[in-house]
Amino acid sequence: MTIKITDTVSWVGKVDWEIKTFHGEEYSTHKGSSYNSYLIQDEKNVLIDTVWKPFNQEFIAQLQETIDLNKIDYIVANHAEPDHSSALPELMKIIPDTPIICTANGVKSLRGLYHQDWNFKIVKTGDKVSVGSKELIFVEAPMLHWPDSMFTYLTGDSILFSNDAFGQHYATELLYNDLVNQAELQYECLKYYANILNPFNRLVDKKIKEVVGLGLPVSYICPSHGVIWRDNPLQIVQQYQEWANNYQENQITILYDTMWDSTKKMAHAIAQGIIAADIGITVKLYNTAQRDKNDIITEVFKSRAILVGSPTVNKGILSSVAGIMEEIKGLAFTNKKAVAFGSYGWGGESVKIISKLLEESGFEVVNEGLKGQWNPDEKIEADCYNLGRQMAEATTD
Ligand code: FEO
Repeated sequence: MTIKITDTVSWVGKVDWEIKTFHGEEYSTHKGSSYNSYLIQDEKNVLIDTVWKPFNQEFIAQLQETIDLNKIDYIVANHAEPDHSSALPELMKIIPDTPIICTANGVKSLRGLYHQDWNFKIVKTGDKVSVGSKELIFVEAPMLHWPDSMFTYLTGDSILFSNDAFGQHYATELLYNDLVNQAELQYECLKYYANILNPFNRLVDKKIKEVVGLGLPVSYICPSHGVIWRDNPLQIVQQYQEWANNYQENQITILYDTMWDSTKKMAHAIAQGIIAADIGITVKLYNTAQRDKNDIITEVFKSRAILVGSPTVNKGILSSVAGIMEEIKGLAFTNKKAVAFGSYGWGGESVKIISKLLEESGFEVVNEGLKGQWNPDEKIEADCYNLGRQMAEATTD
């Protein structure tokens, strides 16, 4: 399917309604995704990015219906990750000499992935390529989210092709931000930021200031996943700036796993304490073995504080808690408080282990945590309740 965006620019990508997980099993795509490729047809014809491997043939066949492939003058590879570059080997068999415009790191990534010495044309920030009546301007965007990442801006139509930035894993045939369910869109944007871009907050903020500083008008932001931003397109840029700067909502999230429901009882008593503090804090409770880890991480991103619980098992913690703590550590959250809790029979090491993991992950651990022996009795439940109240009050400091 080809959809005209402007007189010169068309969407020639693929909506993937089927995909359940992305990056292997690393990212849950409850609402599918899309691989947005764009075709500029001016005096020069330019293809921007391609699609993921399962759709190579379909993509090329669709492209051939829109343009004689031999008339493509340039391919822009804004980012080499396979969801945007997988069709290149097939395409380059047909048009082997076509210049591929990308960053120096893009060349390294594409050579590493496909072992082909294509006709690479390396660009840096500020470099321009004329397409006839309009120009492409390139802006390197390293670590948003790979070292090779780049934005491409088309003058005249005022389109920013931002690749992964400002995208969402959100399948829709409606294409534009103003046509889809706004709550779904907001959630998928937030999830994408929390799970992919959070470690690069400083770079996001700096890059946005740099791009805004160029003073270029922006009529459309065309990312490589999800909807195109045409209605107030800069709203997503402003949203990214907010998310990049110690973002918090008035929320505390409790994460736990449990063997015989003792740690679960502690988690629920803590939640009751937070609610009883009655200071308007939303509390969310997730069993890490039962719920999707990317959804949990999205809630952690939104939180002022988290409480993490596991019983002690083999002098350690349950694997689902260990797994999500590893993810959380890599995502480098900032400006969040935390505390550990957990039940035990004999050893009781879990609370110390979780506290250490939280510290290593950059959380402000507010106290030594709470251990509850065996099945929580009234005293332990009261201690949990009080811990919940304390945490709620601590978030208003
Ligand atoms: Fe959508 Fe970093 O690939």
